[in-house]
Amino acid sequence: MNADPLDFHGIDYVEFYVSNARQAAHYYRTVLGLVPIAYAGLETGVRDRASWLLGKGQVQFMLTAPLGPDSPAEMIHHIALHGDGVHDIALRVNDARAAYEEAVKRGAKGVQEPQEFEDGQGRFVRATIATYGDTVHSFIERRNYRGVFPGFKSIENPPFAPETGISAIDHIVGNVELGKMNHWVAFYRDVLGFSQLTHFSDKDISTEYSALMSKVMQNGSGRIKFPINEPAEGKRRSQIEEYLMHYGGPGVQHIALATKDIIATVDALRAAGVDFLRIPETYYEDLPKRIGDIEEDYRELGRRGILADRDDEGYLLQIFSQPVEDRPTVFYEVIRRHGSQGFGAGNFKALFEALEREQARRGNL
Ligand code: FE2
Repeated sequence: MNADPLDFHGIDYVEFYVSNARQAAHYYRTVLGLVPIAYAGLETGVRDRASWLLGKGQVQFMLTAPLGPDSPAEMIHHIALHGDGVHDIALRVNDARAAYEEAVKRGAKGVQEPQEFEDGQGRFVRATIATYGDTVHSFIERRNYRGVFPGFKSIENPPFAPETGISAIDHIVGNVELGKMNHWVAFYRDVLGFSQLTHFSDKDISTEYSALMSKVMQNGSGRIKFPINEPAEGKRRSQIEEYLMHYGGPGVQHIALATKDIIATVDALRAAGVDFLRIPETYYEDLPKRIGDIEEDYRELGRRGILADRDDEGYLLQIFSQPVEDRPTVFYEVIRRHGSQGFGAGNFKALFEALEREQARRGNL
C-alpha cells in the first residue's frame, strides 16, 4: 500500500461554524494575529452565509456564519448544538475527485460529491466526507487555481494584525465518546491511509480523578497529525467528558499552533488577552534535571507557564490556553518543537492536574 493513498498535502484550512463570523474574525485577527484575506457574503452575492478567510504562514481559518433562518439547516443545527466550533478540517489533495472516490470506496460516508469551480483564476475542486460527530473533511484541489478561494473577494487593505509568530498548524485533536477511540483510529487508518504514531493509555494520562486515552494518527508524510482522545474511567468526570457534555458530542478539542519563538508568541497572545492554564510552581523544580540543556531560559518558561518535554529526538515546549468560548470546548495550544515529534507525554500528569483545578472552578469536577 502507498504510504499516503489519498495523496494528502497538508491541512488546507480549518472552517469554524460560528454565530457571528465578523466578530469571530476580529478575535482571530487581534488575538492570534491572523490576517483577513478574503470574504464572501451578501456583498459578494452569497445569500445564505458570511465567510471570512484569515491566514498567517501556513495557517488558514475560515469563519462561517448563517445569515438567516433559511441558511443551510446543517449549519444552523451545528451552531445550536455545539456552539461555535470546528466544522471542517479541509485537507489539500492533488486530485479531489480521486481522493473522494477512494475514500468512499474504503468506507467513508460522503457528504458532498466533488464540485468544480471555474473562474478567471482557474479550476478549484472540493469534495467532502464525514468524520467524528458533525465534523467533516473536505478534500481541496487547488493546483490549477491561482486565486484564494472561489466566490470570495480578496481583502486588499486588511486591518492591522499583531505579529504573534504563529506559522503553521502542528496538530488537531478530536474528542470522541467513551469506547469510540479505536473506531476512529480504524477510520483514519483504513479509510484515509493514516498510520498510528503513538498511543497513550490511561496509565500514562491519569490523575487521581480522571483519565483519558489517546492515539495519534498521521498521514504518510507526517504533515497531518490527528490525536484522537476518549475518556477513561476515573473517580470524577474527565476533561473529555466535560467537553462532550458541553459540545453535545464528539468534536475538535484543540488546535496546536506552531511557532519558532514560543516566548514571544506567548507574550503576544497574553498581551492580547489570552488566558493560559496555570501550571503549579512545583512543576519547574525538577524540570532542568528532567529536560537537560535547552536554548531557552528555564526561568522565562516558568514565568509564563510553558511546559517542556524531551524524548530521544529532541525536546518540545508547549502551552495550553483556557477554552476560548463560554462553553469549555475549543482551546489552543502553542508548540515549539526542537526535534521532538512527540506530544508532551511527560507533561500529561502536571497538565491534567492543572486542567482539573480549572474544571473544579466551573463546578464540573
Ligand atoms: Fe496537543
